[in-house]
Amino acid sequence: MKKKVLSACIALALGAGAGYTTIVLAQAKPDVLVKQRQAVMTLQGKYFGQLAAVAQGKAPYDAAAVQRSAGFLDNLSRMFWDGFDPSTKDIKSRALPAIWENKAKFDENAARMENETSKLASLAAGRDEAAIKAQIQAVGKVCGACHQEFRAK
Ligand code: HEC
Repeated sequence: MKKKVLSACIALALGAGAGYTTIVLAQAKPDVLVKQRQAVMTLQGKYFGQLAAVAQGKAPYDAAAVQRSAGFLDNLSRMFWDGFDPSTKDIKSRALPAIWENKAKFDENAARMENETSKLASLAAGRDEAAIKAQIQAVGKVCGACHQEFRAK
C-alpha cells in the first residue's frame, strides 16, 4: 500500500514536471526570451565585474568571494544561450544580425565562454592567486571578443 502511494506520488511529480517544461517552452514568447537573456547578461556583468576588479588589483583578493562569483558566473554562462532562439531575430535588442548569419561562430564563442568560466570555477576552489587572476583575464577576453563581433555598441 505504502509502495503504491509512493509510486503514485513519483508519477504525479514526474508528470507535473514534464507538463510544466512543455508549457514553459511552448509559451516562451520571443520578447520574453530576449528579456531573459538580457537579465542573464546583466548578472554576468555583475559577477564578472567583481572578478575583474580583483584581477586588476582594484579590489583585494578574497578567496571566498572570488569562489562565489566564479561559481555564479560559471552557471550563468550556461543560461544565456537559451534565449537565442531564431524567433527572437526581429525583436529589437543589441544582438546583431551577424549572430544569425554566422550562428556556428557565435556558438563557438559561447562554448569557449563556458569552457573558460568552468576553468575559472575550478581554479577558484584552490588558492593559486596568480593563476586565478590570469584566468579571470582569459574569461574577459572571451566576453570582449564576442561583444566586438556580435553585440551592438
Ligand atoms: C558568445 C557571445 C557573448 C559572450 C561570450 C558574452 N556576451 Fe555579453 N552579450 C552578448 C550579446 C549578443 C549581448 C546583447 C544581448 C541582447 O541585447 O539581447 C550581450 C549583452 C551583454 C550585456 C548587456 C546586458 C543588457 O542589459 O542588455 C552585458 C553587461 C554583458 N553582455 C556582459 C558580458 C560579460 C561580463 C561576459 C563575459 C563574462 C559576456 N557578456 C560574454 C554576447 C556575448
